[in-house]
Amino acid sequence: RAEIGKLKTLVPEVDEMLGGGMETQSITETYGEFGSGKSQFTHQLAVNVQLPEEHGGLEKSAIFIDTEDTFRPERIAQMVKGLDGEILADLLRRDLDMGKEDVEEVELGEDLEDLPEETDEVLDDLVDEFLERVHVAKAFNSNHQILLAEEARDMADELEDSEFPVGLLAIDSLTAHFRAEYVGRGNLANRQQKLNKHMHDILRVASLHNAAAVVTNQVQSNPDSMFGDPTKPVGGNILGHTSTFRIYIRKSKKDKRIIKLVDSPNLPDGESVLRITEEGLKP
Ligand code: GTP
Repeated sequence: RAEIGKLKTLVPEVDEMLGGGMETQSITETYGEFGSGKSQFTHQLAVNVQLPEEHGGLEKSAIFIDTEDTFRPERIAQMVKGLDGEILADLLRRDLDMGKEDVEEVELGEDLEDLPEETDEVLDDLVDEFLERVHVAKAFNSNHQILLAEEARDMADELEDSEFPVGLLAIDSLTAHFRAEYVGRGNLANRQQKLNKHMHDILRVASLHNAAAVVTNQVQSNPDSMFGDPTKPVGGNILGHTSTFRIYIRKSKKDKRIIKLVDSPNLPDGESVLRITEEGLKP
């Protein structure tokens, strides 16, 4: 069994709270209200997973199951271009060194500002490379979503010996279709049974391929409601048993978000702060 890897958010405070990053071979559940930033979090991980380990990634690709049409390629582009200068310079240097462009004769400086003019083109190529390594599948309903998770397993098998095997399986949103389709108490048991199977399929990909799995989940009810607890994720205990990390995201002032680690089996509960910026998640 492969050693457990850590996928970093690259926000040091958050990564520290997570004991070094999101673990492979397990599922991390992020939940929060509408607009709290769950999709932004997931997009950022789809970028970070591709980074070399020394920069907090796993040097692997991502599978992104998109259930609410929230995947935005242009957001990935912004996040790649918004990576820390040192990381970006390293990636560009690697691409330039590989002789992809005829700029071998150009001396590369230590900082991004020192990179040659040709960098713009190479930067666009780099963005394309990142986008190619996010395998996006749109799920039209819950059965389709379940099917896509099963297919994710085949895809991960196929990519296992490639240059970029699967290192992240993201489902955004895990619960939206289930919530919309299985309405009412009478359907609850059935819904939980389906979700449970789905989570085990996801966990299996994560275990077999030493990948991180990240799923997003809405909070149970709207905060104005007198009924239900707005800080409780949908799905209750069933998701609880299969997800190792549960992360509650809530809005704070301006672009700030509070990230709370909840009920982790081997880490203390904690809170940390990040910002959602044009360049992605930042301290
Ligand atoms: P639902 O999917 O609606 O439940 O919400 P979510 O939690 O997935 O929220 P999402 O990740 O879509 O976050 C939306 C928030 O992220 C917005 O309110 C913005 O604050 C921020 N955001 C999204 N896109 C951008 C962007 O391109 N630039 C900046 N600066 N912020 C963005």
